[in-house]
Amino acid sequence: MRKPVLAANWKMNHGPSDARAFMRTFLARYSRRSDRSVIMFPPAVTLPDMVAATKERPDILLGIQNIYWEDKGAFTGETSASIARDAGARVALIGHSERRHVFGETDDQTRRKCAAAARAGLRPMLCVGERLEERRAGETEKVVLRQLHAGVADLDPAHMAQMLVAYEPVWAIGTGQTAEPRDASAVHALIRGALKQLAADRASEIPILYGGSVNTGNAQALLAAQDVDGLLVGGASLDPEGWATIARS
Ligand code: PGA
Repeated sequence: MRKPVLAANWKMNHGPSDARAFMRTFLARYSRRSDRSVIMFPPAVTLPDMVAATKERPDILLGIQNIYWEDKGAFTGETSASIARDAGARVALIGHSERRHVFGETDDQTRRKCAAAARAGLRPMLCVGERLEERRAGETEKVVLRQLHAGVADLDPAHMAQMLVAYEPVWAIGTGQTAEPRDASAVHALIRGALKQLAADRASEIPILYGGSVNTGNAQALLAAQDVDGLLVGGASLDPEGWATIARS
């Protein structure tokens, strides 16, 4: 049995002072539980404050929203996987749809980033998902599998067993339009099948999260859907009470 994984993606929200206030409320409302994993992706500069806030709460893992694939050097503005790890990240979000569609990140770049994360001892959380026009054109399967295969191309089975996958249909992100649990299940089953081919018996260790307009009202139904092992939550994770409710789902 995989433990459900509840992950918060704060995107470009909550600097250090907001985060400190957030965590005071959140930690008071979410007590440690061993039947689930909670991961939070704050902005990179907020990581040290999150490390301090979770010092007594090792049940809450921290992640970084993006990394660069080189380990160090003259890459102004970028954060390497090893620097992120040193700052307290244990997971790296890779290929989020905003990275792909706002910043032009390619499949090949996600491949390099997943490999860099694994090298530095960060668990990659690879995001995949189709755009609305791709869904309408019946290309969901093709797009999701292409993104998945590209992202993991340089990972060996041991590293793959450490990764997480997030299925986030682009049309559902920040739009209030959520995939129906059965539609999410269908794509999750497709991803699970592909992981079995790629990682054989290690595939069952890889959690597959759903993301896209998850909120306090739909979290439970989505989490209960077949093959959905967790949730990646954007907007609804910005409020500490709401995030505590979702983390307890
Ligand atoms: P949303 O974002 O929950 O605001 O739709 C999810 C995500 O982008 O990870």
